[in-house]
Amino acid sequence: GLLPPFRNEPSVDFTRPEQRAAFAQALSQVRSRLGASYPLFINGRELTTEKTRASVNPADPGETIGHVSQAGPDEIAQAVTAARDALPGWRATPVPDRAACLLRAAQVARGRIFELAAWQVVEIGKQWDQAYADVGEAIDFLEFYAREMLRLDKPHQPPSLPGEDNRLLYQSKGVAAVIAPWNFPLAISCGMTAAALVTGNTVIFKPSSLTPVIGWTLVELLGQAGLPPGVFNFVPGASREIGDLLVEHPEINVIAFTGSLEVGMRILEKSSKATPGGRHVKKVVAEMGGKNAIILDEDADLDEAIPAIIASAFAFQGQKCSACSRLIVVDALYPALRERLVRAVRSLRLGPADNPANFMGPVADREALHKIRAYMDLAAQEGQILYQGKPPAGAGYHVPITLVEGIRPEHRLANEEVFGPLLALMRAADFDQALRWANAPPQALTGGVFSRSPANLARARREFRVGNLYLNRGITGALVGRQPFGGFGLSGTGTKAGGGDYLLHFMDPRCVTENT
Ligand code: SER
Repeated sequence: GLLPPFRNEPSVDFTRPEQRAAFAQALSQVRSRLGASYPLFINGRELTTEKTRASVNPADPGETIGHVSQAGPDEIAQAVTAARDALPGWRATPVPDRAACLLRAAQVARGRIFELAAWQVVEIGKQWDQAYADVGEAIDFLEFYAREMLRLDKPHQPPSLPGEDNRLLYQSKGVAAVIAPWNFPLAISCGMTAAALVTGNTVIFKPSSLTPVIGWTLVELLGQAGLPPGVFNFVPGASREIGDLLVEHPEINVIAFTGSLEVGMRILEKSSKATPGGRHVKKVVAEMGGKNAIILDEDADLDEAIPAIIASAFAFQGQKCSACSRLIVVDALYPALRERLVRAVRSLRLGPADNPANFMGPVADREALHKIRAYMDLAAQEGQILYQGKPPAGAGYHVPITLVEGIRPEHRLANEEVFGPLLALMRAADFDQALRWANAPPQALTGGVFSRSPANLARARREFRVGNLYLNRGITGALVGRQPFGGFGLSGTGTKAGGGDYLLHFMDPRCVTENT
């Protein structure tokens, strides 16, 4: 049948009692299944390893979410062989059939949306609405990339002179390694995987070590999509053991990565080395960090700006590459902004994510906790702490919401990604200086401006150079199809997830000319 045009999955509405009840019920359903064992999935078969790793709830590290088999060198070798052997068949599978697999997975995910979201609450500490949005985004990626590939499959041929026939076609690059982050544990995993699959690549998916159980749900979704064995393989494992192996493997053709700058640069370096038996240059699609700023012009509407700043800086504990970590305020507005922001932030309730009354929950793990706390100490040295909340007691990985002021462009707090609920306030003399400061870090992912001046907004459009610029709204929550997402500079390789040219990165174009 004819496919209806792409539409984003609707967001959850917790003012509706049945949606609240469905979420609570999904949470208890998930809780009744905690502590199960999870295998690898290679060549269409489940595989258990001797070595396992416990995934825990960051709000209560004593609570084990699942025991997960861990891939080592042998399992990576098996997965690569399976993916390589499955490649010819999958590459030859007609595009409509590949797209249909994605659409089936989307349908399965839609039927499980509350349950899939509930896993994120317990495994990584996402708030109810944020977790639901993540699953919605995963569905969007499946629906969107299916349609995009169907579009690319139509002939859009270069001009031919009489007597010749030119045709451009795309073929998959080959075997793809998908190396996924924990912060959008289903959406980004699913997006990168769906793009690789629908373009005809076979996939080896390594979930983050912090979210392997959510990673397993992707195996379930795709398992019901009808993929032949070996087309999609699941290899949870320690990055330090299998990360380089995957990246350096001569039979991996394309690497889709989302994560930190440090790991991304390592992947770019390792993947570009010639390997014995290597027959190609590896393509790396990397989405890395941000040091994102919102500029408040002197006439900014604070009623609009304050909630947007809070959501952008502190939702999901500030653990988004798109999150706002610098607030650059034009001088005249500074006293009013400062007062209003502190009052608003003070009203936020902190605590475990399974209680939807809590605005902010735990950070990802002990390592994140230590790193963020170290930046909070640094904040007190480089600037002045304007506000610091009180984190909830208990063993959970909770950190306080922190506002620091007096930060200048040369400070580390103005340049290094914290990935936590720490917002640096910078007081700029005028809009001109604010724009200069905003552009100063080498990252260029998201940015925002609140202003009522059409001239300043127009200037920001031209001169605020980031991958995703938002005017008079928050700077997170890009929607598939509507806000193609991704940055450049040290934020990534310039690809746009959820955009019209994303799939092209997973294929090699070929031109065939026939003399007729
Ligand atoms: N796409 C997410 C956002 O826009 C970040 O990965 O917030």
